[in-house]
Amino acid sequence: MCGIVGYVGSRPAVDVVVGGLRRLEYRGYDSSGVAHFSGSRIEITKSEGKLQNVETLLKTVSTAPAARCGIGHTRWATHGKPTTQNAHPHRTGHVVLVHNGIIENYQEIKQQLVARGHKPVSETDSELFGFLVLEKMDAGRSMLDAVRESFLEVQGACSIVVMSEKEPGRIVGVRNGAPMVAAADPQGGVILASDAQPILEYTRDVVFMEHGDLVVGTEAGLEFRELQSGRPVARPTSRLDWTPGALDKQGFDHYMLKEIHEQPASIVDTLNGVLDRARAESFPLAAQPAVELLAAAKRITIVACGTAWHASMVGKYWLERWMRVPVTVELASEYRYRNPVIDPGMLVIGVSQSGETADTLAVIHELKKQGIATLAITNTRGSSLSREAQATVFTSAGPEIGVAATKTFTVQMLALLCFAAAIGKQRLDPAGRAELETVFSQLVRIPHLLEEYLSSPLRTTVQSIAREIQRSRGFFFIGRGTSYPLALEGALKLKEIAYVHAEGYAAGELKHGPIAMIDGEMVVVVLAPTDAWREKTVSNLEEVKARGARVIGVGHPADEMLKKVSHHWIPLPGAELHESLLPFVLTPVIQLLSYELAVLKGTDIDKPRNLAKSVTVE
Ligand code: F6R
Repeated sequence: MCGIVGYVGSRPAVDVVVGGLRRLEYRGYDSSGVAHFSGSRIEITKSEGKLQNVETLLKTVSTAPAARCGIGHTRWATHGKPTTQNAHPHRTGHVVLVHNGIIENYQEIKQQLVARGHKPVSETDSELFGFLVLEKMDAGRSMLDAVRESFLEVQGACSIVVMSEKEPGRIVGVRNGAPMVAAADPQGGVILASDAQPILEYTRDVVFMEHGDLVVGTEAGLEFRELQSGRPVARPTSRLDWTPGALDKQGFDHYMLKEIHEQPASIVDTLNGVLDRARAESFPLAAQPAVELLAAAKRITIVACGTAWHASMVGKYWLERWMRVPVTVELASEYRYRNPVIDPGMLVIGVSQSGETADTLAVIHELKKQGIATLAITNTRGSSLSREAQATVFTSAGPEIGVAATKTFTVQMLALLCFAAAIGKQRLDPAGRAELETVFSQLVRIPHLLEEYLSSPLRTTVQSIAREIQRSRGFFFIGRGTSYPLALEGALKLKEIAYVHAEGYAAGELKHGPIAMIDGEMVVVVLAPTDAWREKTVSNLEEVKARGARVIGVGHPADEMLKKVSHHWIPLPGAELHESLLPFVLTPVIQLLSYELAVLKGTDIDKPRNLAKSVTVE
């Protein structure tokens, strides 16, 4: 998702900004741009595609090397296609800005601006903010006041950095949701960025801005203000004493935690790989052999192991719902020895992050030999699975070092959703297609939503719950619908990294046996987001609570009833999300709960005992 860098000081600003954007490339993007001051004029250089395109253009901009103030951006398109026109920075008169996040009330703001005679030229929500600032500055406000007052008019989690030709050598930034880090350059001046990576080259003393912080950067340094009141506020500097190992982990204590936080970027990169985002339609699949195989399938069998099996189970819901083909999800180790019934119209899909899992590989090998169409979904290029299968869909989570699969789980689900929806939309009636358009417009915002969620107090909430339940005898994770495989995944994560006994159950199955185990020493994690299954899951919650279990409720903030009946409460973001997208917001919750319990137990989180990252033996 979007990345922001801003700089003012004595160094060549364009180099600092472009170098910073390089370090933010990992976040995933589809266009980029830079704006720099040349005297009191601002010049903008932007392009669709990779940052390299902007660097090439900048070589021809004679004023770029001398600039001492500039801002830059990598954009992940949410409103409007990834074109040069929609790329940031956006200019509105003398105001130039970059934006990370989503302005929720942009339709309303756009109507008001158009009624006042303004003519936005891009399809973005971001550009609209420039008009608000411009109006206020033209009415006599300083840039600082104009940005502050404009920000109070917008809803949604976002960060914005603004420059104006009326105030050369000054940048104003706001953080409200989407993260922003600020630092004073020891050589004079300041640097702002979406995370600490672009800053570390210059200093290790950084300020992690809080929600609702405004910052003014000039050559003289940083000044923080409260967004609401405009009053100056002091913000502590944190020293990032990152060893080379920690640098590799980007300051996170474990790779697993880092990889949990990388999920928004993994989603962006996977969507960029699987879809052709330049096409203005929902789920615009890039041309790839997988499309034909899936479209021709009369029935689908997915084989996988462990976490990949859980991702596949979520995928089954989508494939059946949108594509209307029968889908079975099989444990590869069972399926391979079962002498299963096969037929020529079937497609077998092997899902595996490593692409080397022996059992999954064996099924694909065997069925291919028997003339069955085979497809691989894997995160590893050149893997045995990708070489074995007839066609491969590569997910783009980047390297996953933690043995426990986290970000690869998310992108496995994502790939299955994209194909289910893209092929499904050809088969659905207009109402179904319209529903998928909603799903798609919400899906492209999921990276922003997750980034904000992961930087919210979620971790502190989970940490304090983990402290209270750490001595429990055992855990059940329960859910229905797509939350059922998530419950299985939650239990698997807890077992593998915290070495605690846990089971995942379809909530409706509890009373068929396992409820006998429930007493005051058991914890039940109830995954009950607001979807078609919520009511039934909550009745199951009542059953376990009546038998003494400690209940952790996971649901949407407006679900007062669920919150009231739970002993501990974890609120989910995205109350408006289509239920097909809920697995993406439940995932960080189950991962962090296991992670925090493992931290308290002091286990070897990145290399849990007895486990291997790639299971190449059966
Ligand atoms: C759990 C985990 C394992 C793997 C399983 C399959 O966190 O990592 O359960 O999911 O071994 O591995 P791949 O996806 O490489 O086939």
